[in-house]
Amino acid sequence: MQRRILHLRHGGTSLVLDPTTPGLPTIVHWGDDLGDLDQPDLDGLALAAVPQRVSGGLDVPARLTLLPLDADGWLGTPGLEGHRDGRVFSPSFGLVGIDADQTTATITAEDGYGGLRLVVELQVTEAGLVRQRLSLTNTGDDDYSVLSLAATFPVPAQATEILDTTGRHLRERTPQRRAFTVGTHLRESRKGRPGADASLLLAAGTSGFGFERGRVHAVHVAWSGNHRLAAERTITAEASLQGSELLAPGEIDLAPGATYSTPWVLGSWGDGLDDLAARFHTELRARASHPARPRPVTLNTWEAVYFDHDLPTLLALAERAAAVGVERFVLDDGWFLGRRDDTAGLGDWTVDPVVWPQGLAPLVDAVRGLGMEFGLWVEPEMVNLDSDLARAHPEWVLQPGGRLPAEGRQQHVLNLADPGAYAHVLESLDALLVEHPISYLKWDHNRELSSAGDARTGHAAVHEHTLALYRLLDELRRRHPGLEIESCASGGARVDLGILERTDRIWTSDCIDPLERLVNQRYTGLLVPPELLGAHVGGPRSHSTHRSHELDLRAGVAFFGHLGIEWDLTTVDDEQLVVLARWVEAHKQARQLLHSGRVVNADLPDETADLRGVVAQDRSRALYAYTQTATSSTYPAGRIHLPGLDPDASYRVRLAAPTTSLGGAGQSPLLWALDGTRTTGRALATTGIQAPVLFPEELVLLEAILIG
Ligand code: DGJ
Repeated sequence: MQRRILHLRHGGTSLVLDPTTPGLPTIVHWGDDLGDLDQPDLDGLALAAVPQRVSGGLDVPARLTLLPLDADGWLGTPGLEGHRDGRVFSPSFGLVGIDADQTTATITAEDGYGGLRLVVELQVTEAGLVRQRLSLTNTGDDDYSVLSLAATFPVPAQATEILDTTGRHLRERTPQRRAFTVGTHLRESRKGRPGADASLLLAAGTSGFGFERGRVHAVHVAWSGNHRLAAERTITAEASLQGSELLAPGEIDLAPGATYSTPWVLGSWGDGLDDLAARFHTELRARASHPARPRPVTLNTWEAVYFDHDLPTLLALAERAAAVGVERFVLDDGWFLGRRDDTAGLGDWTVDPVVWPQGLAPLVDAVRGLGMEFGLWVEPEMVNLDSDLARAHPEWVLQPGGRLPAEGRQQHVLNLADPGAYAHVLESLDALLVEHPISYLKWDHNRELSSAGDARTGHAAVHEHTLALYRLLDELRRRHPGLEIESCASGGARVDLGILERTDRIWTSDCIDPLERLVNQRYTGLLVPPELLGAHVGGPRSHSTHRSHELDLRAGVAFFGHLGIEWDLTTVDDEQLVVLARWVEAHKQARQLLHSGRVVNADLPDETADLRGVVAQDRSRALYAYTQTATSSTYPAGRIHLPGLDPDASYRVRLAAPTTSLGGAGQSPLLWALDGTRTTGRALATTGIQAPVLFPEELVLLEAILIG
């Protein structure tokens, strides 16, 4: 087999692979497009990366290959862990084939003694992402138990700082940073879903990297079950990011001939986080399944009525919604059999005859008559023990054997890998979709999984359950073309590119306090483009923080995402409804730009100032939101800069409707804002403009329009 140094290039990214290293090939470069390198230059690049043998170590210096293993001298975290009834604990692979073109490589390696074959699929995508998936086949005569199989991405030595996110219900995606020193920083999800604390990305970059600058690399595991992300720096001067599914003991026991494939693990890089995020956004937007039509402004009934379903109230709400410009009305939790609160009913997906004596039809018809689409909340993977379903099929509940797992929100999880449970859920949902013109499902998932086993086998079942969930979503979408699905999990506890392959929106957080959302949306937005981020305007007082905010702040923060309203509009006065309608209309005017442009975040020195925006791909127009999050540390606040514009073009910058609030009394007019001002994109990105004086927790929109 020929062992030529490979150069994959696409979308501004180069990946150089050295297949001459022991074991699997080694990535010697991931990042900048290196241009059209000839073979001698590629060979020289690979040669230049070979380390020396040093005292105290093994005679063959270890390389960080695509599958680092101790058989090849790698004594850090291995890429594969497993065994064959205790044997074959140290597999050793030899390359048997590489099939490559300019952007992809499929690498096959075998361990003859261990009875294993590995295929690594590598691709540099049009958006400049690098994707990896590993598939391990048991070619031996007895079972091989896989404990872990990870995709490994090297990062440059200059990456000395790690960024990831943590969080909780109502506070997902809180950033945390630390020095990337020798050792391993490990983030695991063991909750059967990524979790509210999940890090969508594990990023490593130059010290102090921000949104606008600083070289940074990051990986994401496109998987909705348990996963593991690790950043590791070894004393041999290698630094890497690893991503994998997290497997429970015995979860993957490969029978002879069987194969386990990891989820896709995606890597991005950039100069600044915005650059890195843009690759993910471009990748998602290029999918055939990416929502193509304008994102319908949504009203969700949850914070308006909770479980108090009452037809006249909901009809009044629908009328108000239509009047302010809503295009999709979503009936949340509380409509199905026995569901008066969150203790009962999950699993029985028929309309409750007590609360809905005439069924859903009167509401659905009214909503559609008002020109809106109808959407419905479901939580298909879940079951309350107080339900007809649990009474009839207790064996469908995920359980470790001999006992039920601890409850969460008084509910359990159905084992979708059980054909009976799968068919029940599929046919129940299908019946609803056949009976009513439902164009949208809000698909919730309100508990963490624990002790999640298959009652039939006693084996850990998150892996198979997750695959069955994917099949279920795929099948429903096949049966109901055009159906849109929102991925919700107590807010944003299931946000990953596995679920987004099959859904059209994520519910970003149950917390719609705009100040909290500024952080949550910024960091969720590193992976997910704005058009897929559910962002709602809540009532004046946040239900989850009890802080109160003006409508402009609430609406201005939601404005950039997939806009919705979650507020009892029947209690809102006419004046506020007019302002709300203005925001909805402004969003409709802007959404084409907001949902196709490049997301930018300014690295501002003042922590009380927040500037973010979206710049059209052709840089002809941009919209920014400037928020004074707390009292300004200087008075007046200093200058703010506007990133992302064409440096060589001139723009007119002005304050944009519908924001109206502008600070308090005692200030002179902001001269540039009187009639807008004109200067170049370069000046706007560097010198910047004087920030308007705002009260704390106020927001204004700014617009930049190209004038030549
Ligand atoms: C959790 C979701 O995040 C909420 O938006 C709402 O749908 C409730 N579940 C309903 O139970």
